[in-house]
Amino acid sequence: MAETEALLKLQEEFRMQNKSVFILGASGETNRVLLKEILEQGLFSKVTLIGRRKLTLDEEAYKNVNQEVVDFEKLDDYASAFQGHDVGFCCLGTARKKAGAEGFVRVDCDYVLKSAELAKSGGCKHFNLFSSKGADKSSNFLYLQVKGEVEARVEELKFDRYSIFRPGFFSSLPESWTSGHSVPVITVVRAMLNNAVRPSDAKKELLDNKAIHDLRRADDPLKP
Ligand SMILES: NC(=O)c1ccc[n+]([C@@H]2O[C@H](COP(=O)([O-])OP(=O)(O)OC[C@H]3O[C@@H](n4cnc5c(N)ncnc54)[C@H](OP(=O)(O)O)[C@@H]3O)[C@@H](O)[C@H]2O)c1
Repeated sequence: MAETEALLKLQEEFRMQNKSVFILGASGETNRVLLKEILEQGLFSKVTLIGRRKLTLDEEAYKNVNQEVVDFEKLDDYASAFQGHDVGFCCLGTARKKAGAEGFVRVDCDYVLKSAELAKSGGCKHFNLFSSKGADKSSNFLYLQVKGEVEARVEELKFDRYSIFRPGFFSSLPESWTSGHSVPVITVVRAMLNNAVRPSDAKKELLDNKAIHDLRRADDPLKP
């Protein structure tokens, strides 16, 4: 339980810093859960969603959420959307079967990298990237190769802090049913936030399934 208390203290200290955050691709499955958690935990003083379309967020809880709609093909024209955020979460992505090989590379590499560049120029200190288990720029599989490539290229931007999350296949099954190969969305999201509130000297953090489960357990040590 000492772990839970320590986390609550970290969260409180973090809130007092009045940081701002942006979420890239907030309409996605993961980011919708991330947004909800961010608002419930009240960790940031300003929350901005950056995406290609405006989301309908009618509930009272979302009333202070800012939305920036951008054209990812002309991101330089939208540099102002990326300015002034302390922390960024990137969960933008598509699938080859949806967008074709070229479209997949365009979104998962080009859009992500350009967004990261603009965020860095805009003052972002801590960039969080959703990657994937097995990401490897020398992989023969396009998906893993592109994920590995974008991880490496974002690293070159030298954020003060860069956290890469490499979950396995996200599962909507209850946490107790999942194995080391699979991580439910809520587990990844809680892990990302539990990590973000912890001060770190490491410039780069690589968080695999086990690290994600361990981080998530910090808010409930009784979780398996
Ligand atoms: N789901 C998994 O099992 C899993 C596992 C490991 C890693 N990942 C990775 O984690 C990331 C997010 O996963 P997710 O399941 O949350 O994805 P998702 O639900 O498909 O959401 C993807 C986000 O990217 C945006 N996007 C897609 N194509 C776009 C385009 N051409 N232009 C602009 N925006 C575009 C979507 O916007 P719209 O809503 O407008 O389409 C949405 O906001 C992906 O990179 C994925 O590869 C996923």
